[in-house]
Amino acid sequence: MHLTKEEEKIYEGEEGWAYQIAMRILVKLGDLFKADWLIPIDSAHVSGVSYKTIGDAAIELFEALVEAGAKSKVRSTANPAGIDYNHLEEMIKLPEMHRKQAKIINLYEKMGIDPILTCTPYYISRPKEGVHLAWAESSTVIYANSVLHSWTNREGGPSALAAALIGKTPNYGVHKPENRQANVLVRVESDPKDEAEFGALGIHLGRILKDEVPAFEGLLHPNEDQLKHLGAAMASTGMTSLFYPCASCPKSSSRLETISVTADDLKNASESLSTTNEAPDMIYIGCPHCSFKEMKKVAQRIKGRKIREDVKFWVCASRYVREKAESYVRMIEAAGGKVISDTCAVVTWLKEIGVDVLMTNSAKTAYYAPTMNKTETIFASLDECIEAACQ
Ligand code: F3S
Repeated sequence: MHLTKEEEKIYEGEEGWAYQIAMRILVKLGDLFKADWLIPIDSAHVSGVSYKTIGDAAIELFEALVEAGAKSKVRSTANPAGIDYNHLEEMIKLPEMHRKQAKIINLYEKMGIDPILTCTPYYISRPKEGVHLAWAESSTVIYANSVLHSWTNREGGPSALAAALIGKTPNYGVHKPENRQANVLVRVESDPKDEAEFGALGIHLGRILKDEVPAFEGLLHPNEDQLKHLGAAMASTGMTSLFYPCASCPKSSSRLETISVTADDLKNASESLSTTNEAPDMIYIGCPHCSFKEMKKVAQRIKGRKIREDVKFWVCASRYVREKAESYVRMIEAAGGKVISDTCAVVTWLKEIGVDVLMTNSAKTAYYAPTMNKTETIFASLDECIEAACQ
């Protein structure tokens, strides 16, 4: 990979250990994927924030980086953590976890990473079309590429942090126009109707497509929230980081292989996400974190109803959306629900707060919860989730 003189100096350690290690990560990655140089990025979004998922070794590394003077060179933000400190009554009760989680957030902040603690940084600041980013968190990446038309590879936590410190990323993958061409046409024969069905479609396609770039035919006017669920699910079962919601969007000039998706495919994908018929301990809405419109929808559905005493009803959204949707937050809380920020069902400790059976309208959460949280899952529409919570 070609480096400028300035980049070479960083590589050799002339700007200190922290930047040297960051540059070495980027060069290693660039060499691996045959990038030819580094390109400037507009922003970085770092994952690996929850103490539950990264543990003690990461704390030691972050301490060393901070000690060595590491500072982000571009606007950089952080994914959800394991705890919402404004809802400690809902969270794991171990002070040790609280202390270590706070330490991680503090270390990120010292490196200039804004602890917005959400997987929906685009609701706070929407990147421009065509800008290059280095974002981690697969749902955030696929949304950025496919809905916002920004350009980012699917970074891991370390490479996104390295890119934040250098302000650049290697130009490979979907940073190159030739890799942004659709290479498979997906004909949807049964139009998905709500977020859960879009999620089921994503789960089904991720399993088939792996890292291909699909263009869709037959999605009738999907909104951004539905595309968010489609992308998050597709990036959970597969490695796709870009899709085109309509067949008229840019795609390869060559004849594309076509895949048809039937009503049965959606039903099977949906059923594969439920592991039990038992009653849920928790109903979870907000993976990826809710938009303002989703908050409104939940609030309108639940207005005037009462959530059962024996069920937790969590709606997760960023602090930013929570503040904007204050009146809806009050409606959800009046019904007995909690609007949680800074974390989510997957990256917090669910078992430890007594959740054995999780019901959700998020295909991504339903897919990950049995392994990441060791819970049973029930995957259902928002209406079914609210009915189950209130019956
Ligand atoms: Fe976001 Fe957590 Fe889902 S980070 S995408 S709400 S698993």
